[in-house]
Amino acid sequence: MTIEEEIRQLKKEHQALILAHNYTRPEVQDIADFVGDSLELSRKAAECHAPVIVFCGVRFMAETAKILSPGSIVLHPNPHSGCPMADMASPEAVAKYKDSHPDTLVVAYVNTTAATKTQVDICCTSGNAEKLISGIGKEQKILFLPDANLGSNIGRKLKREMELWAGWCPTHNKILPEHIIRVRELHPEAVVLVHPECLPAVVRLADHAFSTGGMLKFVKESDCREFIIGTECGILHRMRKENPTKQFYPLEPNVLCPNMKKITLEDVLMALQDLAPRIELDEETLRRARIPIDRMLEVQP
Ligand code: 13P
Ligand code: SF4
Repeated sequence: MTIEEEIRQLKKEHQALILAHNYTRPEVQDIADFVGDSLELSRKAAECHAPVIVFCGVRFMAETAKILSPGSIVLHPNPHSGCPMADMASPEAVAKYKDSHPDTLVVAYVNTTAATKTQVDICCTSGNAEKLISGIGKEQKILFLPDANLGSNIGRKLKREMELWAGWCPTHNKILPEHIIRVRELHPEAVVLVHPECLPAVVRLADHAFSTGGMLKFVKESDCREFIIGTECGILHRMRKENPTKQFYPLEPNVLCPNMKKITLEDVLMALQDLAPRIELDEETLRRARIPIDRMLEVQP
C-alpha cells in the first residue's frame, strides 16, 4: 500500500476528516478532504461533527478547530508546527493591557493562541477583518493584535485609527517593495496580489490584498491570465491545479512558512495510527476562547 492508501484506509476506519491550510505541502493538500484559509477551516471545523479531525496547519488553527468542535478528537500531526506571530501576544501581556485600558475593545487576529483568545473581545481573520472593523462604532477605541501590518493596512483602507500591537509575520515580512517593482517589470500584464500581512509599503504597491481564500477566489473569477502572488508559496499548488490555463509567478520564491511545511504525509499517517498528538484544552479555555471566535464567525468575508 502507498502512504496515501494507508491514510485513506485509516481515515475511513476512524471517520476522520482531514483539514489542510492553503500553505501546507502539496501532497498534504492533495490527501485532505478540505483545503482552505483560516476562516473557511474554522467554519468547516464548526459544522463537521466528525469524531476525528486531522488538522494540517499551525497550532493556533488546530486549537480553533478544537474550540469549535470540542467533542471531536483534534489531531495536530506535528506539535512543533506553531505560528511565531501568534506567540508575540502572550495572554499575560494582553490581560495587563486590558487592565490599564478598560475602555478599549481588543480585536485579535485569529493568529493568536487559545490562551490569548480568552483575554480578547472579538477575533477576525484577514478574510473578514475589514468588514468586522467597519462595523464597530467610530467612537470606540480599538487595540488590534498581534499583527501590526494587518492592522495598519486595514486602518489605512478604512481611515480608522487603531492602536497596534508590535507583532509581525516573519514569512510575509520577507516580501519587500523592490520585489514588486522587479517582478512587475518581468511580467507587465500580470495582476499583483498580496496578503494583508505584508508590510504596508508592499500592500500600497500591489493591485489587491486578500486572504489566501480571497486570492483563490479572485484568480478563479478574473479574466486576467497572469498573476504575481505575494504570499507563502504553498498557495501556488492550488492556484495552478484549479486554473491550469493561467500563469502564476511568486513575488519572491523564498517566501515559505517553515512551520506550515513541518507537517508531512508521514506525520498524518502516524497521527491516524496513534490517534495522537491531540489538541487538549481545559474547559475554562474552551469556554472563554469560544466567545470571540463565535463573534468572528458571525461576520462573512
Ligand atoms: P489566511 O487566513 O489568509 O489563510 O492566512 C493565514 C495565515 O497565517 C497567513 O499567514
Ligand atoms: Fe504564522 Fe506567518 Fe506562518 Fe501565517 S505564514 S502561519 S502568520 S508564521
